[in-house]
Amino acid sequence: MDRIRIVGGRPLHGAIPISGAKNAALPLMIAGLLTEETLILDNVPRLADVAQLQRILGNHGVDILVPGKKKGATVDDGQTLHISAAKIIDTTAPYELVSKMRASFWVVAPLVARMGEAKVSMPGGCAIGTRPVDLLIMALEQLGATIEIEGGYVIARAKNGLKGGEVVFPKVTVGGTHTALMAAALANGTSVIENAAREPEIVDVADCLNKMGAKITGAGTSRIVVEGVPRLKGARHSVLPDRIETGTYAMAVAMTGGDVMLQGARPELLQAALDVLVKSGAQVSVTNEGIRVSRNGGGLAPVDVTTAPFPEFPTDLQAQLMALMTRARGTSHITETIFENRFMHVQELARLGAQIRLEGQTALIEGVEKLKGAPVMATDLRASVSLVIAALAAEGETMVNRVYHLDRGFERLEDKLGRCGADVSRISG
Ligand code: EPZ
Repeated sequence: MDRIRIVGGRPLHGAIPISGAKNAALPLMIAGLLTEETLILDNVPRLADVAQLQRILGNHGVDILVPGKKKGATVDDGQTLHISAAKIIDTTAPYELVSKMRASFWVVAPLVARMGEAKVSMPGGCAIGTRPVDLLIMALEQLGATIEIEGGYVIARAKNGLKGGEVVFPKVTVGGTHTALMAAALANGTSVIENAAREPEIVDVADCLNKMGAKITGAGTSRIVVEGVPRLKGARHSVLPDRIETGTYAMAVAMTGGDVMLQGARPELLQAALDVLVKSGAQVSVTNEGIRVSRNGGGLAPVDVTTAPFPEFPTDLQAQLMALMTRARGTSHITETIFENRFMHVQELARLGAQIRLEGQTALIEGVEKLKGAPVMATDLRASVSLVIAALAAEGETMVNRVYHLDRGFERLEDKLGRCGADVSRISG
């Protein structure tokens, strides 16, 4: 398995192109199942999770064409996928495929909406918590599906099609909202989704569905109304920039010092995180090119942050912020409210010399003068990248093991950081 070797202590200077958002690209690809026409997605990131979903969709009979390089294109341009689900030949998503990536469970909604049936393996637990699917199932039932759970599979049926209905989520769920949206798009009648997730990736998927002929209003608010249509058509859509990748590199710059332009980044996608960075002592400015982040000289101030659904501070940046706060002058408090077990990075950051204490769902981070390189590893992609951030500021060499997790969510990480002066290399095997 590949490893990443980092020798810390170099400030970052230059530009980092921000890729398309993983967490939008995945549901957008799944939305391709809703139509027999071709859905063209631009700016799709080259990530292990995208490749895995290509395999899963392939198993349902979906053809995915990736055109060759165009004149003038560079490695920084995202890929284009032509997704054609003209014929769905298999409505089962087997355990071997779904267990590798939780988001693939979301195929259940378009499959049952278009084909009247779907048999999808339960995704099971994962490194960051139990992550049940009860609310996704509730949403499908509210839209007229009958659900059976058998042998670890969720079997959803709606022989005469789904029906418009009211879906009221007792807690905000991104996957639940994607599921309800895709199911309601082809349901007979109007659906209302209450307490919907407001994440930008939901808005991106709703925009794409509308281009495909869906009638969705209110995406980006807590109340989404979907007027079902009998069929959807092909469309072309460009994936929005990755706000988590943006926030990650912004924190890396705040950690090392320096000055970096995050090209193509959009501030409204991560305002809460940018506000925290400014409080901690980084400078953030917005230009036509993207978001410029710098920190020169001054130390880092501690912060108190609680994760919550959008537009609050995202759980997907919690580990990275914790890495940053290991060097702050004073004690920071970071409270995780979305996932019950998303602190695996704590003990790995401690290997680098971080002083972190857990009190329930809150981490108290006592800033230290310096971190020292060490071998580390993590079992989740955001935790892994938090170790990269810490390593960039640590004295000496850090070896980040199990790079597979980074490749799931960060495109060419070593190249993007290396171009800004970091000493980062990938060691194969
Ligand atoms: C999405 O996961 C993201 N994944 C996650 O990013 C992200 O951390 C999360 O949203 C929260 O923002 C993708 O978009 C592919 P949820 P999702 O349903 O949809 C509970 C990353 O690193 N819940 O919003 O699975 C759940 O346990 C990943 O890129 C239920 O109780 O998250 C959690 O506590 C990790 N029952 C809360 O809701 C359900 O049926 C929010 O989860 C569903 C969820």
